[in-house]
Amino acid sequence: MSNIKYVGKNLFIEKLSVAKIAKKNTTPFYLYSENQIKENYVKFFNTFKKIKPLVCFAAKSNSNLSILKSLGKLGAGTDVVSIGELLKALKAGIKANKIVFSGVGKTEEELKIAINKKILLINCESESEAKIINKLAKKANKSVSIGFRLNPDIDAKTHKKISTGKANNKFGISIKNFSIFLNEIKKLKNIKLEALSVHIGSQILSDVPYNKVLTILSKLIKNLDLNLKYIDLGGGFGINYSKKDKPINLKKYSNLVHSFSKKLNCKIIFEPGRSIVGNAGILVSKIQYIKNATNKKFIILNAGMNDFMRPALYDSHHEIIPITKNKKKIKGIIEFVGPICESTCKFGTYKNYQKISENDFVAIANVGAYGSSLSSNYNTRPLIAEILVNKNKFKFIRNKQNLLKLLST
Ligand code: LLP
Repeated sequence: MSNIKYVGKNLFIEKLSVAKIAKKNTTPFYLYSENQIKENYVKFFNTFKKIKPLVCFAAKSNSNLSILKSLGKLGAGTDVVSIGELLKALKAGIKANKIVFSGVGKTEEELKIAINKKILLINCESESEAKIINKLAKKANKSVSIGFRLNPDIDAKTHKKISTGKANNKFGISIKNFSIFLNEIKKLKNIKLEALSVHIGSQILSDVPYNKVLTILSKLIKNLDLNLKYIDLGGGFGINYSKKDKPINLKKYSNLVHSFSKKLNCKIIFEPGRSIVGNAGILVSKIQYIKNATNKKFIILNAGMNDFMRPALYDSHHEIIPITKNKKKIKGIIEFVGPICESTCKFGTYKNYQKISENDFVAIANVGAYGSSLSSNYNTRPLIAEILVNKNKFKFIRNKQNLLKLLST
């Protein structure tokens, strides 16, 4: 059941009217439903209940401290890709033994901190990285558990800019090089290989590529006679951005993962991001101006591509919904755009949209993942506020950035 829906003609988030929050606070802002996030996490966990996985929420999808805290309380770990995310996860109360560290370019400094904090796994992506980890571990007189990220050369059938599991993607170690690689790292005495990890892409809406990965992993583990403690199957589970998107059949996949993990006697780790927070957030924005052009009307919002990058970056579709519905229509085509001086600063085109006027509010839907976390100060615009709703209460979980801070450099 969605926590963001219309009650009569008004858009509600949990028990609060979005219009009321918008009228009281400076727009634009991100608005999240805490209970939607929790429900998504619990639903995900329950789908895989039989295998009791460790679910490491991908902090890159939304790294707000309050959201990490909220998920941590439910038992989630965190998948981090930088020292900033690692320290934030720890600050949010996530135990180090529930944190996995991914990424192709971890620096020596980052690896040193990860080793000192004794996180569960560093998912290593190259021979050079393995050597650095070994050197640092030796210096610290430690033995460090690592995972290797495999590049399974699987097409996740998603947007090409968010596909990561094909041989031509920079991620992981190819199957072809894997056994040579294993022989090399056997010489490194201060690291021990305890896991294999894979992550083939994001916004994946079919279970087929995931199933293929399981087959590849099974074969590889058997052929190389690997004795592993963990298999990290990554994230990537897609959400429905439009009515055309069909939800991924996770139940079917969970049965396959169950038999896979039973055979290997390994703990399964997942790293979902989007599927936990994506549908839990909206971006509330005011209509600044309406401008007539030759063949359409521009609806100029006060939110820009710096606040929400996905449409500009991936041509991604996000519904733009009025926060108060009416039955009147605007004739012709309208295009929602933002104020940034780039033609890609646009959010969607509609025909026969309901009547809207300057100073009305609209919400860009499904922006909980890769919304705020991808935002920037482009055009010297402060980062916008983030507000979290729980039932009939809302609180700021990030204040709008102070403009003065941006003026100092
Ligand atoms: N694990 C690893 C190693 C990853 O690289 C990612 C995402 C995830 C987990 C989480 O994937 P998710 O469950 O959220 O799909 N900015 C893009 C998405 C980039 C995803 C990068 N990696 C977007 O807005 O669509």
